Amino acid sequence: MQIQTADSTLPEVAKPPVPLWFKEAIIYQLHIKTFCDANNDGIGDFQGLLSKLDYLKNLGITAIWLLPFYPSPLRDDGYDISDYYSVNPSYGTLEDFKQFLDAAHDAGLRVITELVLNHTSDQHIWFQKSRRAPKGDPWRGFYVWSDDPSKYSDARIIFKDYETSNWTYDPLAKSYYWHRFFYHQPDLNYDNPEVKSAAFKVLDFWLDLGVDGLRLDAIPYLIERDGTSCENLIETHQVLQELRARIDSKYDDRMLLAEANQWPEDAVAYFGKGNECHMCFHFPLMPRIFMSLHMEDRYPIVDILEQTPQIPGNCQWAIFLRNHDELTLEMVTEEERDYMYHVYARDARARINLGIRRRLAPLLGNNRKKLELIHSMLFCLPGSPILYYGDEIGMGDNIYLGDRNGVRTPMQWNADKNAGFSRANPHSLFLPVNIDPEFHYEAVNVEVQEANLSSFLWWMRRVIAIRKRFPAFGHGDFQMLAPSNNKVLAFTRTYDTQTILVAVNLSRFSQAAELDLQKWIGWTPEDTFGHARFPVIRDGKYPITLGPHSSFWLLLTPPEVAGVADGERHLPVCEFNGDPSWWFSTAGTRFVDRDLTNYVKGCRWFRSKARSILNVNAVDLLVFPGDGVAQLLLVAFNYTEGPRDLYALPVRIVSGDEARKIEVEYPGTVIAKLGKTSGDLLVDATGSEIFQRALLDVVANSRTLAGKLGKLVATKSSRLTEVLKDGPPQTSRILKVEQSNSSVIYDDKIYLKLFRKLDEGINPDLEMTKQLSEKCGFEHVPAYLGDVQYAAPGQEQAALILVQAFTPNVENGWSHTLAAVDRYFERVLSEPQPVAPPPAGLWDEVPEPFRSVIQGVHLETIRLLGERTAEMHLALAQDLESPDFAPEPFSLQHQRSI
Ligand code: NOJ
Ligand code: CA
Repeated sequence: MQIQTADSTLPEVAKPPVPLWFKEAIIYQLHIKTFCDANNDGIGDFQGLLSKLDYLKNLGITAIWLLPFYPSPLRDDGYDISDYYSVNPSYGTLEDFKQFLDAAHDAGLRVITELVLNHTSDQHIWFQKSRRAPKGDPWRGFYVWSDDPSKYSDARIIFKDYETSNWTYDPLAKSYYWHRFFYHQPDLNYDNPEVKSAAFKVLDFWLDLGVDGLRLDAIPYLIERDGTSCENLIETHQVLQELRARIDSKYDDRMLLAEANQWPEDAVAYFGKGNECHMCFHFPLMPRIFMSLHMEDRYPIVDILEQTPQIPGNCQWAIFLRNHDELTLEMVTEEERDYMYHVYARDARARINLGIRRRLAPLLGNNRKKLELIHSMLFCLPGSPILYYGDEIGMGDNIYLGDRNGVRTPMQWNADKNAGFSRANPHSLFLPVNIDPEFHYEAVNVEVQEANLSSFLWWMRRVIAIRKRFPAFGHGDFQMLAPSNNKVLAFTRTYDTQTILVAVNLSRFSQAAELDLQKWIGWTPEDTFGHARFPVIRDGKYPITLGPHSSFWLLLTPPEVAGVADGERHLPVCEFNGDPSWWFSTAGTRFVDRDLTNYVKGCRWFRSKARSILNVNAVDLLVFPGDGVAQLLLVAFNYTEGPRDLYALPVRIVSGDEARKIEVEYPGTVIAKLGKTSGDLLVDATGSEIFQRALLDVVANSRTLAGKLGKLVATKSSRLTEVLKDGPPQTSRILKVEQSNSSVIYDDKIYLKLFRKLDEGINPDLEMTKQLSEKCGFEHVPAYLGDVQYAAPGQEQAALILVQAFTPNVENGWSHTLAAVDRYFERVLSEPQPVAPPPAGLWDEVPEPFRSVIQGVHLETIRLLGERTAEMHLALAQDLESPDFAPEPFSLQHQRSI
C-alpha cells in the first residue's frame, strides 16, 4: 500500500457534501449466496458475508451492492421475489441482515440493496390472489391482464433466448398476463394507485432499516401504453418522481440507482431535473470500452461520451465493466454487436440473449496489462465505478452452466476445499467452483494474491486507494482532449482547485501523443502514484509517451511563486531602467515598500509571514560586474515588534526570449513588468543562467564587490580551484524544490547556496562545513569550496553564499525512509496472520523473524548513518585549538541547561 505524504504544497480542495457520498463511491457488487457460506450448507449467507467485511474494507471499496436476497423460487436468481419483507432462509434471517447492515456501517461501508418494483415472482401472494380474483376485483388490478395477446405489440422481448412473447396465458385467470422478463415474473400494474402504495411501503421498510441506496431493477418498464415501446414513458417518470419526493421528505442521504438499459438520451431522463434517480447505469459506455480496447482506438468511447448529455450536479453515472448478467449488447448497433461477438465471443456457448456471458478476465484473454488498463479507465471516466465480486482477483467463468450462472460461481478464497467458500459436500454447492485449468481456484484465489504484493488484488487495492484521494474523479467535470494519435485516450477531470490529466494508451505498442494543454501552461504534471514530477507544460502542445497498454493519472500542479501558487497574480508595472540609484529615488522607495514587499511576502523563503510589517526599505545595493547582469538588493523588513530582518534579493531585467522562457519556467520569479508594453520584465535573478555564472565567478576569483554601504567578501578553498581547473562550468541550474534558500548546481559538481535571510554572526551551516572539510579532514560531508560574506560598517558579517562540492543523490533521507516504511507495511499487510509490532531496541536485539519483515537493507543505511555521525563527532573533537570547536567538559551547568 502506498504511504501518502500530505500534499502540503497543493491548493486545498473543497470538501464535497456528505449526502453526495455516492458520487465518490466505489461499489462492490455481490450475491449473498456466492460469497461465503458460514453454516456450510453449500449456500453463502449473511454470517459468511459478515466474516468477510474486513476483506472488503481492506480492498478499499466504500459501498456494497447486494443482489436480491428475499424469499424467491430463484428462477431468476432472486429477481423473482415472492416476499418483499423478509430474507430468503437459505441466507439467514432479517436479524442477520440487520447485524450485517450495522457492521457494514461501523466499518464505514454503505449498503445498496435491490428494489425490484416492475415485477414479482408468480409465487408472490399478490399474484396468487390476482389470478384467482374475478375481473374488476381490486386484486385482479394488481397485475397487467389482457384477453388479447397482441396488445402492446411494439414492446421488444428482452429474454429472447427464453421467451417468445411478453404475454403468457394463465388457465386459472383465463386471461393473459404481461411480463417483460421470464414468464414466471408477472409485471405489476403501476396504473393502479394501490400497487404504487404497496411498492412505496416496501421502500419505506428497507430505508427505515437503514439501507443507504436502492437499485431500481428494470425501472423503464413500469407503465405500458399501446402504440409505444412501453419503455421510458412519461407516466413511468411520474412514478419515479413521486418515489423520490417521498424519500426526500424523510431522508437527505439515501440514493436511488436506476437500472435503465437505454441509449444515453433516454438514460439521462432517469435523473429528471435532479428529482428522479441519483444514479443511473451508463449501459452504452460499457461495451464501447471493450470495443476501444480491442480496436486500439478511442473513437467508440469518445463517440458515446459525446452523445451523453450533461447530468444535473446532484447526480452521477454508475459505470461498470461486468456484472451478474450477460455483457449486454442491446445498446450498440448491429454492426457493433457483430464486432463484439466476433472478437469477444467466438464460442457460441458464450452468447446469451443479446449479450456475452463471460467474466472479465477470460474476456480479456487473462491479459494482466489489459485488465489493469480497463480498470484504470473504469476508475477515472465520469461516474462511480462498480466492481463485480471476484473480478478483483481475475476470476474465470464456466460457460457450460445454464442461463447466466457461468459468472455467478462461488468466490475463490483459498486453495482449500470448495475454494474456501464452504465446508459442505462439493455436490451440495449452489453452483460448482471454478476448476478450469487457467482459472482454477487453487491458483486464482484471495489468499494466494494477498501473499503476493505483485498480484492483481494488490494492484487493485492501490488503484482504489489513489482514486479515493482525488475528489476530481468522483465530482470533477470531464473534458476530452483530442490528440491526433487516436490510440491515445486523454482527458482532464477538474473539481474545485484539483485537475487530473488522464492519458491511456489503448495500443499494445508504445505510443506518443501531443496533448493540447494550452489552459495549463506553466503547470507541472505529477504522477498520482509515485509523485514523480513530469516536465513543466511549456506551450500548448505537451508531448507524452506511453508504454504498451499503460496509462497515467497526472495531477496538474500549479506554477509556484517560489513555492506559492501563482493563481491570477497581477504584475505591477515599474519604471526601473537599470540605473542603481533608482532604488533610492522616490519612485524606487515606493516600489520597494509596496510592490517588492508584496512579491517577497509570497516567496517561500520569506520566513516572517506571521509578523506585522511596519515598513520595508532597500538598505544596500551591489552591482554585479558585466553589463546588466544583476543587482543585489539588501532589503530591510522592519516590524511593529522585534528586530528587523535583512533579505537578499538579486534582480535583473530580462527581455525577448529570455523573458518568455522565465515567464513559463519560473513564473514565480517575475516581480514586475517594465513599462506597460515593452514585454521586458524585472525578475528575481536566480533563475537566470548569466547571474548564476556571475555568482560563482565572485567566489572563484575571490572578488570583493563594493556596495552603497557595505561590501561582499569572497573566500575560496583550494579545492574550488581544483574543481575548476578545466575552466568554468558548462551548465548551471537552479534547484526548484528548495524552500528557505536558493541553490544552484553547476555541472553536477558544484553546489552554491544563496542564503536569503542574512543573519549577522556565525552561520552554523557554513562554519560546520568549513571546519569538517578544511580543518578535520572529514570526507563524509560535501566539501567546503568557498563562501561570500556581507560586511558593513557597524555590524557583524553575515553569510550570503556557501559553495560546496555537489553530491548527486537519488533521494533524500526522508523519502528513503518513507519508502522503507511503505515496503514494511506492504509486507506486514500481506502476511496471512497479523504481525506483532517489532520490539523496540537495538538492531542486534531484534529477533530474526522480525528482521526479515523489516528487511535489513534500510536499517543497514541507518546503521551507517549512525556510524558516520559518530565519526563526525570524533573528527570535530580532534580540534583542540579553535575556540568555537575545542571540546569542553560536559559540566553540571551544561547538563542542567539541556
Ligand atoms: C435485471 C437484472 O440485472 C437481471 O438479472 C434480471 O434477470 C432482470 N433485471 C429481471 O429482473
Ligand atoms: Ca449457508
